[in-house]
Amino acid sequence: MLDYNIDLSGKTILVTGAAGFIGSSLCARLLSSVNGVKVVGIDNINDYYDVRIKEERLKKLEACTGFTFIRGDISDKCAVDALFAEYRPQVVVNLAAQAGVRYSISNPGAYVSSNLIGFYNILEACRHSYDNGDGVEHLVYASSSSVYGSNKKVPYSTDDKVDNPVSLYAATKKSNELMAHAYSKLYDIPSTGLRFFTVYGPAGRPDMAYFGFTDKLVSGKTIQIFNYGHCKRDFTYIDDIVEGICRVMRHAPERKTGDDGLPVPPYSLYNIGNSHPENLLDFVTILQEELVRAGVLPEDYDFDAHRQLVPMQAGDVPVTYADTAPLERDFGFKPSTSLRDGIRHFAEWYAGYYGTCRK
Ligand SMILES: NC(=O)c1ccc[n+]([C@@H]2O[C@H](COP(=O)([O-])OP(=O)(O)OC[C@H]3O[C@@H](n4cnc5c(N)ncnc54)[C@H](O)[C@@H]3O)[C@@H](O)[C@H]2O)c1
Repeated sequence: MLDYNIDLSGKTILVTGAAGFIGSSLCARLLSSVNGVKVVGIDNINDYYDVRIKEERLKKLEACTGFTFIRGDISDKCAVDALFAEYRPQVVVNLAAQAGVRYSISNPGAYVSSNLIGFYNILEACRHSYDNGDGVEHLVYASSSSVYGSNKKVPYSTDDKVDNPVSLYAATKKSNELMAHAYSKLYDIPSTGLRFFTVYGPAGRPDMAYFGFTDKLVSGKTIQIFNYGHCKRDFTYIDDIVEGICRVMRHAPERKTGDDGLPVPPYSLYNIGNSHPENLLDFVTILQEELVRAGVLPEDYDFDAHRQLVPMQAGDVPVTYADTAPLERDFGFKPSTSLRDGIRHFAEWYAGYYGTCRK
């Protein structure tokens, strides 16, 4: 186990993408569990998916002491610099990004703007945070399992070579890791990248399969199961992701000097995944059962009539499977929420948010 070298109590933490699924959950956890913490959240509240869900998440956060929200875009350098100048965050968690693999085929510009220029602005602001003596103690940022592309070897390890992205989204996430490495090396900024694996849960992202399938089934439409169901996904429950981020935030990679007298980059990279890939058809069965149990769909719903097995989509990969041994070794933590339990929480949230089919 690594020692925690950052005490988050009383610190100012910047969370980008604070109205997002993972960002809002992280902010909520920090505000409820860390003494005297100040959380500054930034988000441009874009309409990639239903903004009401983002507003709902924010409403809960804005009721918490210690939370400040800024509506702004991280691709706007002036806005990012002004935020750093005013709040001087000691820990930065960059979660703002244009997410989604399929959307990157039709909207590549959004990925370049948020994921590349936006991340560059965050790195530059971290770099210049040292100009006045203090500075960012740890930059944690979201990468993605998508960087593994069509990796044949499973489970996916952060030691695997990942130079063959199969989507622009994946290419931007891999670029983030490279950019962070360069900034860690050049400016001694401690940074940790986290490759998340298919994150799901209550108030999650409507563009993701578990949520999109539910919306379609509720409105009587047909769901499409890609690669004829021969896909496996390492579904990771939101609370496990947040627990992983919180632990990682507390340990900044140490600044060291190498044999050549030059700084060894204080740089780390971890997978956070469930390490238990589920077959897509089993996932759909669990989702159906839990939607009926929560009253989102009636018991006599004809699921067979509302599903279609279709070929693989461009940018998709057949399997994702996280090797989480380094996370366990360094932080004593491994995601463990079962898909059944996690989907149950989602279905219950969905029933509460959108209503049930029960009269
Ligand atoms: N959810 C997953 O399964 C998953 C898997 C792997 C990686 N990730 C990564 O984790 C991070 C969080 O993902 P999420 O699922 O919470 O997505 P999300 O879309 O719910 O959250 C991202 C938030 O960032 C905001 N945003 C986007 N571009 C911005 C910009 N330029 N300036 C300011 N705000 C901006 C969006 O409005 C959104 O609220 C992302 O970097 C994503 O790529 C997520």
